[in-house]
Amino acid sequence: MDKIVLGIESTAHTFGIAVVQGKKVLSNIRDSYSTKKGGMIPYKVSEHHLKVFLDVFNQALKTANISSEQIDAIAFSQSPGLGPALRIGATFARTLHLLLKKPLIGINHCIAHLEIGRVLLNAKDPILVYASGANTQIIAYDANKYRIFGETLDIGIGNFLDSFGRYAGLGFPAGPKIDVLAKKSNNYIELPYNVKGMDLVFGGILTNLRQKLKRYKIEDLCYSAQETVFAMLMEVTERAVAHTGKKEILLGGGVACNSRLQEMAKTLAKERGIKCFILDNEYNVDNAAMIALTGALMLQNEITTSFADSIIKPYERTDEVVVNWRNE
Ligand code: FE2
Repeated sequence: MDKIVLGIESTAHTFGIAVVQGKKVLSNIRDSYSTKKGGMIPYKVSEHHLKVFLDVFNQALKTANISSEQIDAIAFSQSPGLGPALRIGATFARTLHLLLKKPLIGINHCIAHLEIGRVLLNAKDPILVYASGANTQIIAYDANKYRIFGETLDIGIGNFLDSFGRYAGLGFPAGPKIDVLAKKSNNYIELPYNVKGMDLVFGGILTNLRQKLKRYKIEDLCYSAQETVFAMLMEVTERAVAHTGKKEILLGGGVACNSRLQEMAKTLAKERGIKCFILDNEYNVDNAAMIALTGALMLQNEITTSFADSIIKPYERTDEVVVNWRNE
């Protein structure tokens, strides 16, 4: 019988709890902090998570149709993220560990975005194009670690889209609205294109777009913004594919829900004769199922985290984690 793992996600605005059994997701519940104006204030996010955690937990158990005694292990997002948000999930995980006397498994959130693609879509060894609000990284496995082949040097690509949307008065989150508006145009307005080696810079493009807001149609700006930053992302992805010789790419993160980015990733894969994996949106955005599924993989390999080592690591990088649950 496959083991039952509870997963807790709390790196940023989403507080989620999921229950998985082996590779099967039994429940995946989440409640996300949102604001009408402005961005995320870390202590407000932690207040949100504190308020909702018990409801989310009860719903996750109810939907999975299990009792807390049936949980075999507790996986939680230990890194990276906002300290005050991570702390709520980690404290709850430790409490459950003490009450239920079941092992803890600390998970790196970025790695979980990749592992869920391997588990749910049967990708073997993909290059993850991780595009979210806070993160933009090209990640692939090599010699016992998930290496970063390219990344943003300033803001995440989702943060770029949301900031542009805020300046344009589109509200938060702006990404889905920009996706829709961009479809109404094919008039490209020239923008800076900032690829530095394998890395990306978005700040200058944002400033440039802001200066153009009054002079151009919003549809044309949305179209041009998307075409530019997604082309940058695909350029470094393609180079990572060429360098590593890997045969699969996987999209992950909230921006992976964007229809134009999905189209460009599929085109890239087709032209290079490789596979492109895209998860359902529910598993692209931050979710606890990916934490639980990564926990299940680690548990199978008898990797757990001691209470003393369960402290949060807000700044841990993807390539600091020794991946001892992949045997290749
Ligand atoms: Fe994420």
